[in-house]
Amino acid sequence: MSDVSNVAASNKRLHGKVAIVTGGASGIGESTVHLFAENGAKVVIADIQDELGRKISDKLGENVCYMHCDVSNEDDVIRLIDTAVSKYGHLDIMYNNAGIVDSPFANILHTNKSDLERVLGVNLVGSLLGAKHAARVMVPRRQGCILFTASACASIAGVASHPYTVSKYGIVGLTKNLAAELGQYGIRVNCVSPTGMVSGSNFGVPAEVVEASSHATANLKGKILKVKDVAMAALYLASDEASYVSGLNLVVDGGYSVVNPTMMKAAGLIP
Ligand SMILES: NC(=O)c1ccc[n+]([C@@H]2O[C@H](COP(=O)([O-])OP(=O)(O)OC[C@H]3O[C@@H](n4cnc5c(N)ncnc54)[C@H](O)[C@@H]3O)[C@@H](O)[C@H]2O)c1
Repeated sequence: MSDVSNVAASNKRLHGKVAIVTGGASGIGESTVHLFAENGAKVVIADIQDELGRKISDKLGENVCYMHCDVSNEDDVIRLIDTAVSKYGHLDIMYNNAGIVDSPFANILHTNKSDLERVLGVNLVGSLLGAKHAARVMVPRRQGCILFTASACASIAGVASHPYTVSKYGIVGLTKNLAAELGQYGIRVNCVSPTGMVSGSNFGVPAEVVEASSHATANLKGKILKVKDVAMAALYLASDEASYVSGLNLVVDGGYSVVNPTMMKAAGLIP
């Protein structure tokens, strides 16, 4: 490698790292796969949308590959981690991002046990299995980074269904508990918690409607949250720039979950 390409490689924030991104075929995961690869990581996309996942890996070239993995199936997760390690030698970053939604606002009387189990099975059980098998290969190396996608609904009530909300609270709890256990091995554990944005899971609501409603309810104006904003937060947490950050729930919501605007509205200080 020439001096110039050495410098270019070392400027990449994930140079030499190996990452897995679950739910990497769409939305936040897809954006993260692009960003991680652009920043020098070798990336395994893990998803159940095989055609989409393969298309992305074909486009991004030899440092990105696709594997079918249903995160709620432990055998799939074991195969995913073991294949990533045998292909690339080790695993530095495990981003447990795959997630599903049930209905946006079903009330408790219309909340079905089957919905609850389905959502918990992917969002929470799937995340825990990903973390478990990543830890299995990270602990002996005494280094690694485990990430999750939780949600701003674990910071403010009334913005998502009960099954989805409890699944995301579970992820925030898991993040902190794992940080407590895995810190002794040099493994950092963090999550990102976005508020609503256009992605693959918008219940068929047109993108412009989702964005208009996000803008109307947002605290931070003049900007619409995009999947890339969340991917940028994941990139920070995955990189050595966050080398002493662990147990953090990085909320990406423009201040929405910490602001109660009702007093300022009543006082006429904001519209
Ligand atoms: N879009 C939002 O408004 C929003 C807000 C907060 C949190 N999130 C969270 O962000 C994460 C990514 O979602 P997104 O918005 O990018 O949606 P998305 O639907 O675009 O992407 C989710 C991906 O997960 C995959 N997936 C679903 N079930 C899976 C399984 N069992 N095994 C493996 N992969 C599976 C899907 O195929 C899809 O590619 C999810 O955890 C979601 O809960 C999204």
